[in-house]
Amino acid sequence: MINKSLVKKRFSKSFSTYDKNALIQKEMAKKLIDLTLKEKKDFNKILEIGSATGILTKEIKMSFAYKKLYINDIASESKFYVDKIEPENTFIEGDIEEVIFNEKFDLIIANASLQWCNDIIGTLNKLKNLLTNNGILAVSMFGDRNLNEVKSIFNIVNNYKTEDIKKFVFFNNSQIFEEEIIKYKFETFIDILKHMKLTGINAIKEIKLTKNSLKEYEKEYITRYSCPILTYNPVYFIVKNF
Ligand SMILES: C[S@@+](CC[C@H](N)C(=O)[O-])C[C@H]1O[C@@H](n2cnc3c(N)ncnc32)[C@H](O)[C@@H]1O
Repeated sequence: MINKSLVKKRFSKSFSTYDKNALIQKEMAKKLIDLTLKEKKDFNKILEIGSATGILTKEIKMSFAYKKLYINDIASESKFYVDKIEPENTFIEGDIEEVIFNEKFDLIIANASLQWCNDIIGTLNKLKNLLTNNGILAVSMFGDRNLNEVKSIFNIVNNYKTEDIKKFVFFNNSQIFEEEIIKYKFETFIDILKHMKLTGINAIKEIKLTKNSLKEYEKEYITRYSCPILTYNPVYFIVKNF
């Protein structure tokens, strides 16, 4: 189970360091925009989910024409950042799994955020039902091999399978599904943990580390993986409401 109050706390704490360190998320945002642009450029209403400091918001503003931009994040501090990018936005604070919407959207777009949902397929179905006729759901998120090394060291169990996301995409008559494996090298195991903290992804689990336990984890990490590597597993997909 994802601990939502930890997600809120860890991400809002990371916002001041997020942009400098979220290199993979920046690449993902650009690729997601390119995939979406192949479908459409003009929208009436756009909903962005999990905006954080607005990396994707900036790309939306530069790349699409729209009448209204609705922006959601579970962390209220995100509003401070996105208001600077698009002062005309309507900010909806809250957990996307809980928020009730009374309107429909031509584009619902999310970068690196939906993997923080407990029921990802349920959430994807909810979002698909919020699309207007011919509306587009465009998502980049992380697949089940993301942070594999760290998950195995800290005994973190995945709460979803990439295969189920693929099934959702194909069931909705889309073939637009891409997956990547990107490996980042670090100097030390501690540098990996620092990197995770600076981008908020340490929200994955609350782990109390002492000097000794940290040493033990580091030893185990090097035994298993020989050098400090962090695997990222971005997936990209587009579903349309015909
Ligand atoms: C890794 S950041 C991605 C930020 C941004 N989309 C980007 O392109 O860099 C994930 C964001 O999703 C938000 N988030 C996580 N779970 C959420 C949920 N259930 N509902 C809404 N936002 C959520 C976090 O607060 C965080 O700001």
